[in-house]
Amino acid sequence: MSDRRSLAIQYAHENASRFLSDLKDFCSIPSISTDDASKPDIHRAAGWLADHLRRLGVNKVQVFQTPGHPVVYGEWLPAGETALTALVYGHYDVQPVDPLNLWVSDPFAAEIRGDYIYGRGITDMKGQILVALDALDAVVKTSQLPINFKFLFEGEEEIGSPNLSSFLSDHEEMLRCDLAINPDTGGLTPEVPCITYALRGLAYLELRVFGPDHDLHSGVFGGSVLNPAQALCELIAEMHDERGRVTLPHFYDKVRLIDEEERAELARLPVDESYYMKATGAPALYGETGFSTVERIGARPTLEVNGLYSGFIGEGSKTVLPSWAMAKLSSRLVPDQEPADVHQQMQAYLEAHAPKEIRWTLTAMHGGPPAISDRNSPYISSLARALEIVWNRKPVFKREGGSVPVVLDFQRILHVETVNTGFSMADDNMHSPNEKLHLPTWYRGIDAFIHFYFNLGENSHTI
Ligand code: BES
Ligand code: MN
Repeated sequence: MSDRRSLAIQYAHENASRFLSDLKDFCSIPSISTDDASKPDIHRAAGWLADHLRRLGVNKVQVFQTPGHPVVYGEWLPAGETALTALVYGHYDVQPVDPLNLWVSDPFAAEIRGDYIYGRGITDMKGQILVALDALDAVVKTSQLPINFKFLFEGEEEIGSPNLSSFLSDHEEMLRCDLAINPDTGGLTPEVPCITYALRGLAYLELRVFGPDHDLHSGVFGGSVLNPAQALCELIAEMHDERGRVTLPHFYDKVRLIDEEERAELARLPVDESYYMKATGAPALYGETGFSTVERIGARPTLEVNGLYSGFIGEGSKTVLPSWAMAKLSSRLVPDQEPADVHQQMQAYLEAHAPKEIRWTLTAMHGGPPAISDRNSPYISSLARALEIVWNRKPVFKREGGSVPVVLDFQRILHVETVNTGFSMADDNMHSPNEKLHLPTWYRGIDAFIHFYFNLGENSHTI
């Protein structure tokens, strides 16, 4: 290993406990993007990141206000014009913590138990942002940066990045780069390093069904009108057929099929049915006929019920015939589906299927397009070699079921490929109580990023 690499890695190891205390500090800020009450904390988290970048030595750091939450931008271009410029992306917002009573420790006072550190946002994705920044710290303190860096940290990813596309278009020149690095994904198990080459998109919808103009006594009126809760459930029940396929008209029209080679590659991933049984705790797995679980999650679209509400859901019983019912529905998309298409398709489905005894409204909430990157890009090879050095085995390639809306915008607006990486695990309880991060993997991630930066630098002039 070259001297500068070992010096940087040695530095990272010597500074391990400072890196950890920075992580705890960052995670103590409850930057929940969906909560209006958290606005001051969102600003605090943006400020924390901006200060952190300044402390690292990033010379141009700016917090941009947007119609929503601020964007933190930084620029550090010490490697000269012929060197690569990487745009490091991240989101400093986190998901809400409810149900709070299921957390073993305070979500905003990170606690270490065994190999894990627990807290909201620790793996999704404050820990991942710090992997990229800690590696940078180690390199710049021990030698010179091999490439140029730009940083783009948003506070609205968990609510669908509603203001980021226009931020990219408005600042195209400022954001000009050769590649984007998105550490907001992860691996499958700590033993096997992993590169994510595709992310699913999302179309989020809210469906409301209205019946009587007020809640009715279910005895006095039961039998005389169609119960909107029943109508909603029937509509939802028919959105899938007996093969687990979505029945919205034209839903599969634009779905890109995976070829045999990719199928074979996905089949080699180190996860099997029992992995998913354990990770989900469900009594049995379920999904679209003809596809493996890995394919169902990564390469096939879905339609899910995210929430249902109607009538009386309190303690005890109340004989009520509700006047309305509501469902939150969302669809995960694969290339080349578009979120707006699903809205249309749902609209058409409801027009054809909704019974005349009820009224309904459909609202499109946030969403984001799916994205897929070229598995053979030289940037991905730079990461693959970096992971291989640290793990001492070749990484596997997987498609992620989750979404990071900005990735396709990097392609469409900035015209660059994104390297998706990160060191979360499927069983990290993202978005759930007791979110956690596997610390040994996190530290390995920092070492891998050090190699990644040097690899990008060595490729700089040949790419
Ligand atoms: N980090 C996740 C996406 C992810 C999940 C990557 C699992 C790798 C493994 C991201 O923060 C996220 O949760 N995205 C949202 C986006 C949505 C709100 C538009 C998602 O997927 O639900
Ligand atoms: Mn998330």
